[in-house]
Amino acid sequence: MKALILVGGLGTRLRPLTLSVPKPLVEFANKPMILHQIEALKAIGVTEVILAINYQPELMLNLKEFEKKLEIKITFSQETEPLGTAGPLALARDKLIDDSGEPFFVLNSDVISEYPLKQMVDFHKAHGGEASIMVTKVDEPSKYGVVVMEESTGKVERFVEKPKTFVGNKINAGIYLLNPSVIDRIELRPTSIEKEVFPKIAADNKLYAIVLPGFWMDIGQPRDYIAGLRLYLDSLRKKSSTKLATGPHIVGKCFGG
Ligand code: GDD
Ligand code: MG
Repeated sequence: MKALILVGGLGTRLRPLTLSVPKPLVEFANKPMILHQIEALKAIGVTEVILAINYQPELMLNLKEFEKKLEIKITFSQETEPLGTAGPLALARDKLIDDSGEPFFVLNSDVISEYPLKQMVDFHKAHGGEASIMVTKVDEPSKYGVVVMEESTGKVERFVEKPKTFVGNKINAGIYLLNPSVIDRIELRPTSIEKEVFPKIAADNKLYAIVLPGFWMDIGQPRDYIAGLRLYLDSLRKKSSTKLATGPHIVGKCFGG
């Protein structure tokens, strides 16, 4: 399987951190935030990650050095003008589509979670639609893409990007699994997947959403970055205490009575 990560945004909302490096390279828990994503993709068997780059391409190209370390192919698709969140898929068409006909992942580069990607693959296979998106519940939905879905099946009824009035509290988590046919819906020009593509797939009854288990945060703004760090560390702590509780017990000498 392949994946495309959208890494071309300006990252202005994460200043001052993005004054020296582009947003995907900002360190999050001791490594560039994008490495968390590439590692998660590798873990479920993705063999090639395509980075859709635009802003500060020369710095982004340095990510090639992680190919060997992470044992995954890293390639680049470079825009000459910002193509938004959908245009980069049309630009990378030949890289994304191969004879396998398999769906591919698309990720926003600034979302942190436990990346339940395997669950997403199973969900996608089961519903038989054209596209799957992960959603999560938030208190302040207006700064995200809001998704209205049928609870029992996950079928998306409406997708409204940054709504001005209350539509719902389940929002687009920025993690997608798309059939190659989705690229046929996208023109090679600056265009938004949230405003121009998802609403149309939803209208055709082919867009499905799965509620993301565990924590989630868009870490593209300083306050959210700090909140995301706490959630991430908390999840690490929970995981390691579960391991200690369920892991093999060492039977040995008992010191001090
Ligand atoms: N290659 C490329 N070119 N990437 C871009 C461009 C572009 O012109 N513009 C934005 N991106 C990338 C950003 O780097 C980021 O990884 C992703 O696209 C989303 O852009 P953001 O600027 O972070 O969008 P947002 O946070 O306001 O909203 C998006 O994310 C929310 C979840 O975090 C939307 O997808 C919302 O629907 C979603 O809820
Ligand atoms: Mg964002």
